[in-house]
Amino acid sequence: MSDRLRKIRSRLEAHDQAHVLSRADELSADQLEHLLDQIEQIDFEALDELIDRHVHHPDGSALPGELEPAPYFPEDMPEDEKARYRADGERLLREGRVAAFTVAGGQGTRLGWNGPKGTFPATPVTGKPLFRVFAEQILASQRKFGVTIPWYIMTSPINDADTRAFFLDNNCFGLDRKNLFLFPQGVMPSLDAKTGRILLSAKHEIAMNPNGHGGSIKALRDSGAIEDMAARGIEHISYFQVDNPLAKVIDPLFLGLHASAEESSGEMSSKMVAKTDPEEKVGVFCRSEGKTIVVEYSDLPEELARQTTDDGALRFLAGNIAIHLFGVPFIERLTAEKHRFGLPYHRALKKVPHIDVESGAPVDPAEPNAIKLESFVFDALPLAERSLVLETSRVEEFAPIKNADGRDSAASSHELQSERHARWLEASGVTVPRDQEGRPAARLEISPLTALDPGEIPAAELPEVIRPGAEIAI
Ligand code: UD1
Repeated sequence: MSDRLRKIRSRLEAHDQAHVLSRADELSADQLEHLLDQIEQIDFEALDELIDRHVHHPDGSALPGELEPAPYFPEDMPEDEKARYRADGERLLREGRVAAFTVAGGQGTRLGWNGPKGTFPATPVTGKPLFRVFAEQILASQRKFGVTIPWYIMTSPINDADTRAFFLDNNCFGLDRKNLFLFPQGVMPSLDAKTGRILLSAKHEIAMNPNGHGGSIKALRDSGAIEDMAARGIEHISYFQVDNPLAKVIDPLFLGLHASAEESSGEMSSKMVAKTDPEEKVGVFCRSEGKTIVVEYSDLPEELARQTTDDGALRFLAGNIAIHLFGVPFIERLTAEKHRFGLPYHRALKKVPHIDVESGAPVDPAEPNAIKLESFVFDALPLAERSLVLETSRVEEFAPIKNADGRDSAASSHELQSERHARWLEASGVTVPRDQEGRPAARLEISPLTALDPGEIPAAELPEVIRPGAEIAI
C-alpha cells in the first residue's frame, strides 16, 4: 500500500491536486483503498487541459460561424410517404432489429426527488412511475410486433443500486430480466470553480458527477451493451430521456425514415417539436457546414432565438426533445478505439456540497461553487454522415418533468398527458368536457397496454360519459 500511496501522491502533486490525500492519515484501510481507487480512475493529463479550458479560461460557447435552421420532415408530410416509411419501420421491428435505450443517469436536482428520476410518479391519475410507463410501452410493442425488444438503461454510479432495486421490487414490470440491461455511465470529478481543485464529498471520497448523457456512447461500448446488441441482431437503438412520460419508445415511422430515407445515413436521427416561444429551454436544430447540429438554449444568441420568418414563425423553430435513433454500426465506429472516443465537455456552474480539506468541516454552499463537466449526446450528430430531423406533435410526445413546479413540472406534464388522452378519446367518439380555455375538465390516463396509438382503444374500454372533475384511467 505505501508504495502505491507514494506513487499516487506524487502524481497528485504533479497536477496540483495534492489536497485530495491531505487527510489520508485519518482514513481506515478500506476508506483509503476506496479513495485511491477513485484517484486511479482519473486521467490527470486530460483533466489538466479541461481545467485550463473550462475553469481558468472559459470563453463561453464556441458557436460555429454560419448557422442556418436545420431542414426537417414536417409532421404533415404526405400520407403515402408516411405509410411507406412506417411499413419499413414495422418490418425492422418484426425482424427484431430494434432496442430501446433510456438515459437515466442524471441527478434530477431541479426536481428535488429523492431517488432515481425513473421512480418518480408521473401519470395524472394512477401516478405510475416513469420506468413503468416505458416498460408498458415495451410490453405492448412486443405484443404488437411479436418480438423481443431488449431495453438498455443507463444509470450512474450514484443511482445504479437504487434503480436495480426498484426494478426487482416491481418484478421488472412484467418484462423478462434477460432482456433488461442496466449499466452505469462514467463520472467526472466536480471542481472548485475558483481554483480548479478537485472537491471531496467526504475525507475518503471525491465528489463525482455523472459525465452527461453524451457519456452514453462510450458507456454503451464499455458496458458490453453494444456487443450484446450485435449478438442479438439489433441494428437500431431508440434513445430517449427518462424525464419524458410521453416519449414514444417505439415509433415505426421515425424508424423507417431513419433507416431508409435518402437524407439519412442511418447513423443518428432526431425528433423535434416547434418551440412555443423564443425563451423555451430546449436546444435548437441548426445546420452548419453541411451538418445537422443542436445549439443548446443557453448558447443560442438571443438575436437568433428571436428571429422570425415572413409569416411570423420563429426562424430557429426546431426544438430538441432529446429523442434519437442510433445505428449500432455508428456507435461501433465511434468507439472502435475504445479509450479514445469522447464528445467535447461543456461546463456547468452548480452548487456542490463538499468538505473543507483544511478543517474537515462540511460545506453546504448557498451559491454555485463548482464546475461540473458534462458531454451532450447531440454533439454526436455532426459525426454522422447524413442526419435527419422529424417534426412531431408536442401533445403527442413531449411532456417532460424536470422542475418541482411551473414549466416542465409534474403539473404541466399531467395537463399535457390528459390533453393527449382527451384527443385520443375524442377521436374514438367520446365527448370530453373542456373548460373555458379549452382544456380537458377531467384527468385522463390511457395505459400503453390499452392503446399505443389513438385508433387502438378497444370499444369496450371507452367510457360512456366523462363528468367534469372525473379521474379516468383505462
Ligand atoms: C435537455 C437538452 C435540451 C433538450 C431538453 C429536452 C441537454 C444539455 N439539453 O435539457 O437540448 O431540449 O433536454 O427535454 O441535454 N442524463 C444522464 N446522465 C447525465 C446527465 C443527464 O443520463 O450525466 C439524463 C437525465 O437523466 C435526463 C436527461 O439526460 O433524462 C436530461 O438531462 P438534463 O440535464 O435534465 O437536460 P436538460 O437541461 O433538461
